[in-house]
Amino acid sequence: MARASFSRRNIIRGGIGLAAVGSLPMLAACGGGDDAPDLTNVQKPLGFEAVGKSLLDNVVLPAGYTYTVLHSTGDRLVSSIPAYSNLGTETDDWSMRVGDHHDGMDLYYIGADGKYSTKETGRAVLAVNHESSADAHFFHPKGQTSNNVNGKKFSQFGTWDLGKRPADEVLKEINHHGVSVVELRKGSSGWSYVIDSLYNRRVTAQTPVRFGGPAAHMAHIRSFMVTAFDTSGATSRGTLNNCGHGITPWGTYLACEENWAFYFNMPVGSPALDAKTAESRRRYGVARTALAADAKTGVSQGWYTPSDTDNRFTRWNPAPTGASAAADFRNEPNTFGYNVEIDPLTHGTPVKRVAMGRFAHEGAWCGLPVVGKPLAFYQGCDSTNEYIYKFVTAANWDDKDIGGGLAAGDKYLNEGKLYAAKFNDDGSGEWIELVVTDPRISGYATYPFANQADVFINARHAADAVGATKMDRPEWGAVNPANGEIYMTLTNNSSRTPSTTHAANPRAYADISRKDTKTPGRGNPNGHIIRWKEKDSASTASSFTWDIFLFGAEDTMPANVNLSGLTAKNSFSSPDGLWFSKTTGICWIQTDDGAFTDETNCMLLAAIPGKVGDGGKVTVQNKMAVGSSEVTANQVTFIGAALGEANLRRFLVAPPGAEVTGITETADGKTIFVNIQHPGENTKAIGSAANFSFESQWPGNQGFGPTGRPRSSTIVITRTDGGVIGL
Ligand code: FEO
Ligand code: CA
Ligand code: CA
Repeated sequence: MARASFSRRNIIRGGIGLAAVGSLPMLAACGGGDDAPDLTNVQKPLGFEAVGKSLLDNVVLPAGYTYTVLHSTGDRLVSSIPAYSNLGTETDDWSMRVGDHHDGMDLYYIGADGKYSTKETGRAVLAVNHESSADAHFFHPKGQTSNNVNGKKFSQFGTWDLGKRPADEVLKEINHHGVSVVELRKGSSGWSYVIDSLYNRRVTAQTPVRFGGPAAHMAHIRSFMVTAFDTSGATSRGTLNNCGHGITPWGTYLACEENWAFYFNMPVGSPALDAKTAESRRRYGVARTALAADAKTGVSQGWYTPSDTDNRFTRWNPAPTGASAAADFRNEPNTFGYNVEIDPLTHGTPVKRVAMGRFAHEGAWCGLPVVGKPLAFYQGCDSTNEYIYKFVTAANWDDKDIGGGLAAGDKYLNEGKLYAAKFNDDGSGEWIELVVTDPRISGYATYPFANQADVFINARHAADAVGATKMDRPEWGAVNPANGEIYMTLTNNSSRTPSTTHAANPRAYADISRKDTKTPGRGNPNGHIIRWKEKDSASTASSFTWDIFLFGAEDTMPANVNLSGLTAKNSFSSPDGLWFSKTTGICWIQTDDGAFTDETNCMLLAAIPGKVGDGGKVTVQNKMAVGSSEVTANQVTFIGAALGEANLRRFLVAPPGAEVTGITETADGKTIFVNIQHPGENTKAIGSAANFSFESQWPGNQGFGPTGRPRSSTIVITRTDGGVIGL
């Protein structure tokens, strides 16, 4: 049924050029000043041949494109420490090395005065998130260890051991998290990073940070943040699991905290939590009971174990061990889960923006700024069945604030309204404000909110209370520079069943295409990309219209799954990164997948976007074996026009085990930076942790840096003829 209307949609597709032209007058109203995009290239077709699926241990690009590696995990920012060994033998604490798991990133030009410039200058800083999580074994000589004599492997996926971990090992892990900021310069052979630049900086899980929020609620916010580190609750330390990111119209960087909840453990014998704290932690997945003496699961990184007194380590034990919150770290989990604003051109103290909500932040994406109007930041909480949020600033945008750094951040990101999204089955949607005076929130039985600060800090509970729509894992968002429409990837949802589908998350099926021995995925294993248009294109809109831009699918899957008619040249699964080029208008889609990896590694695709409503309705037929019976459900949804191979092509395939995430460009569109995260993630140790059976040995195997262990990296992609990327 879905397939029958594709030819009609392909005809509609021809209207895309007109759609882009029609939106251009709106750009004149945008207040981005020098940031206002030049969209002269937008209506050109994609100008490269799609690359095929690949299982190669290299980055595969279309003919006529080439890449180099800018920096990789462990590269040094200063010359006073040794070059990276790639053997895990470093004796420094990693606080001046590039972190691990490169993720969201952005480029900030340095002007002649050394300050932020919106114009290309040949000199820039690159801020890169280091999501960092599981495979810390590559930067220790023999993997994560405890110092217990039995020598058990201390690994997130291995057998657990509750002994004390070596302090130097834990410090390396704390410091490979966070954000790296490095200076780049453009030379005759392209962009490279500058060792010993004064701009070089690491923000790690130990860096001092402060909290920002609405003046009327700061006293309450601070009461949630009181710890033995700062009994006033004004500051805390560090940022964790910075996944996607955001950029602000005034030129700062938002490092967004995603899977921060899993770093805490309450040791054996810890005192019990009060009921409200336990319920808050339950909803966020933070440890809420003491570990059992024989615990083999549920143990985190063990960062609390090296010392009982050094609070660089004891802070990861959030048990109420002291006489009050000021005497222990029971509130430490409250200090994570925010957008963290960093000025990449200064070494200013990063600020956690509490009013934007606390959850598993993927990123924060600003709508097109309009002078004199509030700004809207769109946000996703990346966990199964979580929500999409919007933060609307109280302050109206003034483009004189460009270059205003963290002071401008204090102006825009402290005071505002937080909303959660409800997607109705008729293609409409609503933004529901999360405010403590809403009787659904003030009267919420599951979690008794004390005040508005509590609503910001326990935003997941507040969104539950108002009945926001449970999504298939919101990952990146992006704003189409041509018309201001907002796109967001919904990467996958293994728990979606036919009975819980609805129009915005309409698929639940079994992945029958798995060619290897892995268990077929169920639910929505391939994900989709939703998009919406605010009413009157207003940042402050309380309603919107939506459709589904693309459904991920393997090209061999049946039509009830492959709803976007993908082919061997553009099939993909589990969209994650999403980004629009301001130069070309291309919508770039990156994948972090485990469902299609029997046939191809993760990838980057280029799409020419349409607009909300350019397709039509489809009836989705779900078939998923549940127990011994097959369940079928029909779901009417709104779907964008099928793009076809002309408007959707695979551009890059990564090495095995890697996700592709993070992308930005130079202002001329002739260079793009792309992050290759965790190549070789599924590497197993044979016999001992020092003896790896490598899934990937990229990038060393391609001549970039020392050979052996795989390393996350930022790559720089150019055309051999010097042209604009993608056209
Ligand atoms: Fe860290 Fe949501 O990907
Ligand atoms: Ca397959
Ligand atoms: Ca991601």
